[in-house]
Formats: sequence, structure tokens, C-alpha cells
Amino acid sequence: MLAAMTATISGTTRVVGILGDPISHTLSPRMHNAAYAALGLDYVYVPFHADPARIGDVVRSIRTLGIAGFNVTVPYKEKVLRYLDERTSAAEAIGAVNTIWLRKGAITGDNTDAPGFHQALVDHRVRTRGQRVLVVGAGGSSRAVLFSLLERGAADVVVANRTVSKARALLQRFDPEGARSRAVGLDALTDRDFLATRTLVVNCTSVGLHGARYLDYEVSATPQGCVHYDLAYGAKLTAFLAAAHRRGRPVIDGRHMLVHQGALAFRHFTGRKAPVDVMLAALMG
Ligand code: ATR
Repeated sequence: MLAAMTATISGTTRVVGILGDPISHTLSPRMHNAAYAALGLDYVYVPFHADPARIGDVVRSIRTLGIAGFNVTVPYKEKVLRYLDERTSAAEAIGAVNTIWLRKGAITGDNTDAPGFHQALVDHRVRTRGQRVLVVGAGGSSRAVLFSLLERGAADVVVANRTVSKARALLQRFDPEGARSRAVGLDALTDRDFLATRTLVVNCTSVGLHGARYLDYEVSATPQGCVHYDLAYGAKLTAFLAAAHRRGRPVIDGRHMLVHQGALAFRHFTGRKAPVDVMLAALMG
């Protein structure tokens, strides 16, 4: 596989990268390179363990090295904003980008996490409108989720976070009137009366990855059809999804969001429609 891939790299190959720190866990190269191979595109996608002190130089390499584009992951999604020439309206509203590329000569940033999050719901036939949602976590990845949920008509969104002030600050941005949202502490995760009112629970923390325990959470108090969606993913079900699955609740694995945000980024990098099935197969394999 690797030999076949490197044999196709030539003087004309376009380079796409992903910027992160750490970066060794990323599945994005596997997914994008599979897509290039399937469409016969002369592109290669590589991980970059970017230097935090030089992130501006790294962004400018789109011009200086002719890089076709970057995906951006933790901890750079907000840090790169100031080095961009332009941002899409979604990137502006969310205040974070996950994709940057050269558009008509301008280094442009987009946020494809929000539509990626939404498309995974659509694939699982889950409508956002009218949902009563519990979002766990108020870090960088919660931003796109809150934007998408509130923009698409969720009825009520409760954000539970260890640091409640961070949840409050995020909601100030996405629902300044507080009409459809509120911030609470993690004790909400064991409040059975509250949990019985939820129709969708989204985990936006990295707690429970790689075999670790999840937070104290009474999944059995949620209604039987309450959808459990984890942004985090590993080689097998996360602790959060495993608990929901054991109780017969429908689950959405984070790799579905990963593939859709990647497919939209692919279009920016190559100008071509992404082969979503190929990309998903590469992730699940
Ligand atoms: P990301 O950008 O991936 O969202 P992040 O910004 O580090 O990552 O956010 C991680 C989220 O997981 C935060 O909501 C964090 O809670 P705090 O805001 O209180 O830090 C949450 N988190 C991380 N470790 C946690 C733990 N052990 N218990 C509870 N919450 C945790």
C-alpha cells in the first residue's frame, strides 16, 4: 500500500496536509489518500506536527511552498484565524476553521465541521429541528456543534461542562439572548428527571477514549430513542457510545462526522466531489 502510494509521487504531485499538536493519532491521511487513489488524482495528504511558535509561517507555506491546503485540528483551529486573508461566513460565525486553502489568490479559511456534524445526523435520519439536546463539553469542538444545532432549529440546547463559565461564554456567542439554551455543570449527567427530557446527547469531550472510563452518566434515564452522538472516535466504540449501545440507544460514531467534514474539505483542495463511500470505508477498515 505504502509502496504503491509513494511510487506515484512525482514532480507534479500536489501536497495537502493536516496541522495539529499532537498529530500522530490522525486518521485524515488514510481517508484522503484513499480518495485520491480512487479518483486517480495526483495528490498526497500528509500529517504535519506544526510548531506552535511558527504557526503563521506554516499557514503562509500555502503560498511559499505551493501547498494545496491544510486541515487544521487541535490546538490550531482558532490560532490560525489571524493569518488568513479571508474566512467563509461559517468560519466567521463559529470563530474557528478546520480547512484552509488558496481561493483566487487569497488564503481562505472555512469550517466544514458544522456541516459535517449535520450531514452525519442526516445520514442517520435524525432531524435537528425540535430536538432537545444535551451537549457535553465546551471546548473547541463544541463550537461547530452549537452553531449547527442552534442555526438549524433545535428546540433547546443544554451545555454541560466541568467549567460552567466556559459553557456560558460559548452560548453567549451562539445564543446571546439565551432563548433556547443554558449552561450547567456535570451533575446534570446524573439528574434523571432532566435526562428523561433529552432526545439527543452529543459528547464533545475526549473523556473515555482508548479504553478510559466516561464521566458519571445515567444513560438509562434517557428516553429509549434518545440518539447518542460522539465526536470522539477510536478503533472501537468509545466508552460513551458503548454504554448507550448496551442500553439499546441509537448511536452515531464520530467517524461519520470526520468523513463529511473531510469530504467538504476535499472539494476545496481539489475542486472535485469527494468519494464519500471510499473515504468512510478507509476509516472503518
Ligand atoms: P476540543 O477542542 O477537542 O473540544 P478542548 O478544548 O480541550 O478540546 O475541550 C475539552 C472538553 O473536554 C472541555 O469541555 C473540557 O472541560 P473543561 O472546559 O472544564 O476543561 C472537557 N474535559 C476534558 N477532560 C475532562 C475531564 N477529565 N472531566 C470532565 N471534562 C473534561
